[in-house]
Amino acid sequence: MSFQELVKNRRSVRGYKPDAVKKEDLELILEAARLAPTAANKQAFKIVVLETKGHEETLARIYHRPWFVEGPYVLGVLAETDKAWVRKDGKNHANIDGAIVMDHIVLQAAELGLGTCWICNFDDEATRQLLNLPPEIDPVAFTPLGYPADEASAKKRKSLEDLLWKVPQH
Ligand SMILES: Cc1cc2nc3c(=O)[nH]c(=O)nc-3n(C[C@H](O)[C@H](O)[C@H](O)COP(=O)(O)O)c2cc1C
Repeated sequence: MSFQELVKNRRSVRGYKPDAVKKEDLELILEAARLAPTAANKQAFKIVVLETKGHEETLARIYHRPWFVEGPYVLGVLAETDKAWVRKDGKNHANIDGAIVMDHIVLQAAELGLGTCWICNFDDEATRQLLNLPPEIDPVAFTPLGYPADEASAKKRKSLEDLLWKVPQH
C-alpha cells in the first residue's frame, strides 16, 4: 500500500469485531510508535496496552461508548510533560510528541487492515485514577484496536484552497 493509499484508507472505526489481533501485528504497531519522532528526541512518552476482555466496565470509565471495548485492545499514549522539550518561550511539546506517536499507531494499524479511532474525549480524571498517573503525566489520546465491523463512509474534508493560509506579501 502506498502512503497515499494508506492515508486515504485510514478512517475512524466505530464498530469492531472481537477477533484476536496477531501478536506480530501488535508488535509492529508498538514498533511504529517507538520510532515516532519527538521534539529534541526526548521520547517523553509512554504507551498503554489494555486488553478489553473482562475489563469492559472498567474501560468504559475512560470512554463510555460500546465500540470502545469491542475490539481486543485499547491503546493509549501518555505524555511525560516533565521530560519533554520546552521551547524558550515556555511552550511544552509533550502533547505534540504524543499526538505523533498516536498517529504512527493509527497509520501502522491501517496498513495492517486494523481499525482505530482517535479518542480525546475521554474522562481525564477517571483515566488518571485507573492508570495511577502522577500530575506530570498527561494522557494524550486513546484508540480501540481491532478488525473493523462498520462500513467506511466518504471522507468529509475542506478543499485545499480553504486550508492554505494566505501569506501576506511584503
Ligand atoms: C485529536 C483527535 C481527537 C479525536 N477524538 C475523538 C473522540 O473522542 N471520539 C470520537 O468518536 N472520535 C474522535 N476523533 C475522530 C474524528 O472525529 C475523526 O478523525 C474525524 O471526524 C475525521 O474522520 P476520519 O478519521 O474517519 O477521517 C478524534 C480525532 C482526532 C484527530
